[in-house]
Amino acid sequence: MPNNTTLHLQNPYGRQNLSLNGEWSAIVDPYDNGYIDYRYQPHTVEGYFANRKPTSPSDRVEYDFDRSEALQVPGDWNSQRRELFFYEGTVWYKRDLPSKPSGDRRVFLWFGAANYEAKIYVNGFLAGEHTGGFTSFAVEVTKWLREAENFVVVRVNNQRRSDGVPTLNTDWWNYGGLTRDVQWVETPGAFIVDYSVQLEKGQLDKITGWVKLDGPTKEMVFTLAIPELGVTVTATADETGTGHFEFYAPVELWSPENPRLYGVRIMTADDTVEDRIGFRNVQTRGCDILLNGQPVFLRGISIHEQAPLREGRAHSEADARQLLGWAKELGCNFVRLAHYPHNSHMLRIADELGLMVWAEIPVYWTIEWDNPETLENAKQQLVEMIERDKNRASVVIWSVGNETPLSESRLHFMGELAKAARKMDSSRLISAALERQEIDPHTQMIVDPLGLHLDVLGCNEYLGWYDGLPDRPDGVTWQTALDKPLIMTEFGADALQGNHGDALTRWTEEYQASVYEHQIAMLEKIPFLRGITPWILTDFRSPRRPLPGIQDYWNRKGLISERGEKKQAFYVLQKFYERMARR
Ligand code: GCU
Repeated sequence: MPNNTTLHLQNPYGRQNLSLNGEWSAIVDPYDNGYIDYRYQPHTVEGYFANRKPTSPSDRVEYDFDRSEALQVPGDWNSQRRELFFYEGTVWYKRDLPSKPSGDRRVFLWFGAANYEAKIYVNGFLAGEHTGGFTSFAVEVTKWLREAENFVVVRVNNQRRSDGVPTLNTDWWNYGGLTRDVQWVETPGAFIVDYSVQLEKGQLDKITGWVKLDGPTKEMVFTLAIPELGVTVTATADETGTGHFEFYAPVELWSPENPRLYGVRIMTADDTVEDRIGFRNVQTRGCDILLNGQPVFLRGISIHEQAPLREGRAHSEADARQLLGWAKELGCNFVRLAHYPHNSHMLRIADELGLMVWAEIPVYWTIEWDNPETLENAKQQLVEMIERDKNRASVVIWSVGNETPLSESRLHFMGELAKAARKMDSSRLISAALERQEIDPHTQMIVDPLGLHLDVLGCNEYLGWYDGLPDRPDGVTWQTALDKPLIMTEFGADALQGNHGDALTRWTEEYQASVYEHQIAMLEKIPFLRGITPWILTDFRSPRRPLPGIQDYWNRKGLISERGEKKQAFYVLQKFYERMARR
């Protein structure tokens, strides 16, 4: 059961904060010796979380953070040390903290992500626990802080679990650690903990939303200002600390062609949070996807959170600008951030560059559909994804999973997730990456009952790679049982960059380019197709891809190599998108 005792703290980057990024002392602990004793029971005082020092020459302490090798935060441990490349287990992180602030000020530690399970200890006390490797969380640490000599210890364990989300088997690297930014966030006693500022569904000039305060906030007044619109509204928090607002304003709508963002400032008497928010509407009408009321074709690409031009998990603004810059160069107006919520920088740069986003939780392949704790875990990650990114104009689709095998229990599990997503956020579209049913070799159909719960159908197919040769798509037609838009969420082929041969020689750039050419010819004929996100922008690490000299633990379906070199298929797709953009 995910014992999440953490909370959601909206947009730490827009607040008074102190980055805790940098070198943290680290102890690699493959037997979890810092957490359990020789009878496999949790330590009470001997645990590494105490950060004990010997009090006399005879005192026995068998660990020492300050004499242990450091790890960089943010950053997965796998790419920082050769001996940790395949490591799956526990690593303990430790760093010192500033002094307790004066008066009634409060302190939160905010984590962009910790993969997969984290326990946060402050001065030896357990402050919070979190399960889920790709969503942000915060713990309040005020009551454990002292005047001086504060420290935080974090136990991160990335061992895969059959009851986990994702489960044991994934086609991506299980990068462990404090993989994203960590921040010390100070607030007044009563502060702005969350907010939502969006266009009302179906409207193009009415902004609605709410602000949630935390602490002694009874009857507290807050102000929301959007200076470029000449808007300043105030409202009073109710007994739950929440205040609602709505107003009309002649907003310039956000779109890929005009990614207009507005400075938004939310204030109380002694707290301020700043954000940059775009306003747009997305909906479907029959088989069409409408952005601001106009039909749009989503010229997309799938992206893993694989660091560009270096090993490891992407985490920085520079990484986001590189990856999304390549997507723009490809001619995209859309990206599928697979298969899990990406770091906050990706969403903010997508807002800025004008790229619509498909965001997804890692309900991937063979999840334990009958396990109620697994469903709770998936719901928790869905809630955390939506809570974090609900103000990002770029996010147009929430996806509840990828390529999950048909069954009654899977239908119930994912139907629950779709309903929960829609209840939390009716302003965006709900989807999932489904699979095709082959009626005959030339007739493919999408008949997944999960489609009844979705606004948009996603479908993964590998005609030309896992099924047949590059010309396999020729003459194939598609049917659907539902009057809903289709996004072909995956197709593609592996190619080692620089490996050349004829179009029938697997692993060559020519083979991959030929698959794209035959795929595009087929896709263009699908009458209910409204977008594609080919698999995938860049090569990415996978433990399932060992072929020496070709894969070497890389999935080679990228249009760009791990060294940033474009393959022939990049230009095939770019030419198609140039043609689509002119339509
Ligand atoms: C699947 C899956 C991806 C995987 C890809 C592949 O469709 O969704 O996660 O990487 O196929 O086989 O390369």
